[in-house]
Amino acid sequence: MVGAKNSALKLMAAALLAPGRTVLTNVPKITDIAIMAEVLRRLGCTVELTEDIVDIDVPEDLRSEADYDLVRRLRASICALGPLVARCGQARVARPGGDEIGSRGLDMHVDGLRRMGADVTGKHGFVIATAKKLHGATIWLDFPSVGATENLLMAAVLADGVTEIDNAAREPEIVDICRMLESMGAEISGAGTSRIVVCGVRELRPVTHRTIGDRIVAGTWAFAAAMTRGDVTVRGLDPQYLEIALDKVMSAGGTVETTQDTFRVSMERRPRGVDIVTLPYPGFATDLLPMAVGLASVSTGSCLITENIFDGRFMFIDEMARLGADIRTDGHHAVVRGRERLSGAPVTATDIRAGAGLVIAGLCAEGVTEVAQVHHIDRGYPDFVADLRTLGVPVERVPAAVGPFDL
Ligand code: EPU
Repeated sequence: MVGAKNSALKLMAAALLAPGRTVLTNVPKITDIAIMAEVLRRLGCTVELTEDIVDIDVPEDLRSEADYDLVRRLRASICALGPLVARCGQARVARPGGDEIGSRGLDMHVDGLRRMGADVTGKHGFVIATAKKLHGATIWLDFPSVGATENLLMAAVLADGVTEIDNAAREPEIVDICRMLESMGAEISGAGTSRIVVCGVRELRPVTHRTIGDRIVAGTWAFAAAMTRGDVTVRGLDPQYLEIALDKVMSAGGTVETTQDTFRVSMERRPRGVDIVTLPYPGFATDLLPMAVGLASVSTGSCLITENIFDGRFMFIDEMARLGADIRTDGHHAVVRGRERLSGAPVTATDIRAGAGLVIAGLCAEGVTEVAQVHHIDRGYPDFVADLRTLGVPVERVPAAVGPFDL
């Protein structure tokens, strides 16, 4: 399985914590990684991307500013804040705005850094954090935010004393970052639990680290198999990372076989509708919500899909309606009445996961489905079209047509 985008991006930020050459392997070849490489270059690093390897040479004297022109293209750039303030004593990172899936707060990142002794202000669209030396603190997160847990973790590893992050996110990507930080010399306990304890060290060393597999890409294929009554095997990912998603596929009537690092999903008849609720890990991943909606759209019966993480996640529902899906939303709930078949139509991707979800839904649609704005999909799925072809899907990527209203 290709490496996880949401791990690799943060591993690149973690590299900032140690001067010298860090090498990351199994990194996905996607747009977001190229943008993160540019963020690191502007901070003074030399970064080379070859195939699935990112080679980062971090200088002793890092610059500490990340501009809006890059941050607006890659919200995850904010994860440079923690490492920069820990290493340089200051950081100026442009504040990312909301995006297609909703508004995105930063309060927990800011409060946590303040508790660690940083002075954090906002000016001219930047978050500015300064601290001669961060110190350990006890930090309670209001919500197990992935980004806040990562930022605070990466700040805490070089702080004076012990930091305790309570109600921490438990995502496998957090565990991956902790593993890398540990091999760099950090002292961390509780990775993968909701209480992470970090004992700060004076310095860290650069390492070589392999990124874990992408559970969201893997889950996308699991749902694609279930929706199309297909049979797909995914290798190189611990199926435990997808426990609830695979359980939902089974409840829908699919067969799931697993080994330590593979799973196979097959579906022989029309799936049954199953209710799904997104939650922080180990709950059902919000990033698989579009696939869950797709599955429900072609299942028997009605079901209720509830989104608890992002307020704009249902933006793509209107596009699903263009494919003939019968969906009504009310706040963070969607009621989906399944149809035997969807109907191919031109649709537009609104974000990475919605884009992939629309393509997968198109597999269950009569006639041709044309998905526009597929650059969103490129942000998270390397070789999406090639993978679909391997699975026997007649799919083509065509250049966007230039219309009379395009300048
Ligand atoms: N939140 C706050 N205040 C904060 C931090 C978060 O209110 O200080 C809110 C957010 O507004 C959001 C919720 O908490 O409503 C969850 O945010 P979280 O910090 O957990 O998410 P994130 O770090 O911004 C990462 C992934 C997302 C994934 C979420 C949830 C990366 C680069 N992004 O975002 O991935 O959906 O965790 O699992 O790791 C994607 O890959 O397509 C994607 C959107």
